[in-house]
Amino acid sequence: MQTIEHQLNQMQVDLQLQSVILSVLAATKDIAFKVSQGALSGVLGATDNENVQGETQKKLDVIANQLLLDELVKNPYVRAVASEEEDLPVACTAQAPFLVAFDPLDGSSNIDINGQIGTIFTILPAAEHSGSHQPQALEKEYYQAGRNQLCAGYVLYGPSATLVIALQGQIHEFTLDRIKWEYCLTKSDLRLPADTKEFSANMSNFFYWSEHFQNYVRSVIRPNEKDSKFNMRWNGAMVGDVHRIISRGGIFIFPSDNKNPKQPAKLRVLYEAFPMAFLIEQAGGKAFSETGPIMDIALNELHQRTPVILGDGGLVKDCLN
Ligand code: AHG
Ligand code: MN
Ligand code: MN
Repeated sequence: MQTIEHQLNQMQVDLQLQSVILSVLAATKDIAFKVSQGALSGVLGATDNENVQGETQKKLDVIANQLLLDELVKNPYVRAVASEEEDLPVACTAQAPFLVAFDPLDGSSNIDINGQIGTIFTILPAAEHSGSHQPQALEKEYYQAGRNQLCAGYVLYGPSATLVIALQGQIHEFTLDRIKWEYCLTKSDLRLPADTKEFSANMSNFFYWSEHFQNYVRSVIRPNEKDSKFNMRWNGAMVGDVHRIISRGGIFIFPSDNKNPKQPAKLRVLYEAFPMAFLIEQAGGKAFSETGPIMDIALNELHQRTPVILGDGGLVKDCLN
């Protein structure tokens, strides 16, 4: 069985980048183990803290974040780490070539119900001649377009732990062998299946969307003569919904809404939308905000948010037209 280490070597991935990817994956193995032990490993439930987003942190948000930080700060090729759970980037090794960003635990509302959760990550180039190593200066180094990503991926902690990773124009799937404790290649060169009639949206936001998105969803569920009956699937964890779309096709929509005027979009650009857009495009799909491709967004705030419409290219086009 081909392991991720073999695959990266075969692809002749830069050795420093390989090292950073393997550090991320080492942490995800620890997270996968703790998740599989559930209540026995003491990872369920909430803390008393709020993160920079104003969300109450779950114990596993904090544990997963720390496991990733512990691995990455000791990697000599990581300049800084940005996380959903950290206000500012955490400085690692000055002058190192890579910046890492992650959502340590996506789908927090599924933790306590034994539902799908995951880790989403991306690796970007650090500026060649870096200035200060202060968190505020490092923050600006992250202000890049999504097209600069060198590698992006996620690990979905479901019945099995599945890694989907894209780099160098390839996207592959690996499954964590829980006996050898290694990620083993289980699908190569993923391509989004076309014409799957499935949409994914939090329908409780329906009345808070613009008329455009209300009309789109009406159009896919309205009975008509053509055989175009859509089914709806919603995990409440982007990592699970995107994994289904990469595996089976369909469309995922998280448009802006006016539920909370201070926060019209929910998903974060750097560690949710960018990596997922990179993966979806690599698998032949499309990923848009409401104004253009997600990969072209020019980031100017670390925890910036964006609407997300991604999946099969034809369905995304129908949805945005
Ligand atoms: P997180 O758990 O990292 O805060 O992210 C949750 C995100 C995303 O995974 C999911 O698609 C979305 O929030 C669900 O939001 P709602 O529960 O508001 O639908
Ligand atoms: Mn998330
Ligand atoms: Mn999260």
